Amino acid sequence: MSDEPCAPAGQPVDNIALNLFLEALFQRHGYDFRNYAKASLKRRVQALAESTQRSSIAELIAPTLNEPEFLTPILQHLSLPVTEMFRDSSVFKSLREQVIPYLKSYSRLQIWQAGCASGEEVYSLAILLEEEGLLDRVQIYATDINDTALHQAEEGIFSASRLEEYERNYTQAGGTRALSDYYVATAGFFRIHERLRKRIVFAHHNLVTDHVFCETQLVLCRNVLIYFDSILQGRTLHLFHNSLCRHGFLCLGTKESLRSVESADLFTDFDSANMIFRSK
Ligand SMILES: C[S@@+](CC[C@H](N)C(=O)[O-])C[C@H]1O[C@@H](n2cnc3c(N)ncnc32)[C@H](O)[C@@H]1O
Repeated sequence: MSDEPCAPAGQPVDNIALNLFLEALFQRHGYDFRNYAKASLKRRVQALAESTQRSSIAELIAPTLNEPEFLTPILQHLSLPVTEMFRDSSVFKSLREQVIPYLKSYSRLQIWQAGCASGEEVYSLAILLEEEGLLDRVQIYATDINDTALHQAEEGIFSASRLEEYERNYTQAGGTRALSDYYVATAGFFRIHERLRKRIVFAHHNLVTDHVFCETQLVLCRNVLIYFDSILQGRTLHLFHNSLCRHGFLCLGTKESLRSVESADLFTDFDSANMIFRSK
């Protein structure tokens, strides 16, 4: 008789199919979504199946293994690169009023924005840094796993359809000029000025499988950890802790809830409402 442990019998077929799909994705393409929070991940995988005309999650496994171009719709659905300028303006207000005064004591600054999506958030940060006189001494790294989104971020060109909303967010975030000071408008689009773009290096980096790549004074990672289970949240917090200098700032934004994660002990509260912490 074998000593091998048995898999729990009687799991719903959909859950087995989801695990097999995630395993195929990891082994074939190296993208590891196995420790993402399962309920929301399952909804996104089901949406992927629907939008690619597959009748079940199980039917996603063969194209994942055999069709390299199928990776693009997978990442588009699973990585959810949704963002906006000055999103949750209270966070930017707090960065401006509470965190920036500390950052002003550094002659050179490195900032890491993890999960930058198509770049609206990191350009908002660059605008804030310019207004506070810090842009000339900063190097910003903005990273994501979605290469399509990263490419758009690097271009810095966005649809003008949301400009009114962005103007409002910017004012609520304590903006001191007009948002139009930071972009050039063309038919239906606006492009962020070169002086802001050149301060940012966009790079592919996976929080699940990659390591720390620089020492930073501020890490900004909003609306990413909500998709991770507590094990992965813990790993990611260790990663941020290793990247931050002593007393460096970690900004997770208003949507996270990390209270139950053991590695939250690596940080002290700084602004609880906006989930801004300092590295111990
Ligand atoms: C909902 S968006 C948040 C964008 C932006 N931070 C904001 O709050 O507006 C989540 C981003 O996290 C990225 N992401 C998901 N898993 C990731 C991982 N393992 N490593 C790096 N980025 C990841 C996605 O590709 C997506 O662009």
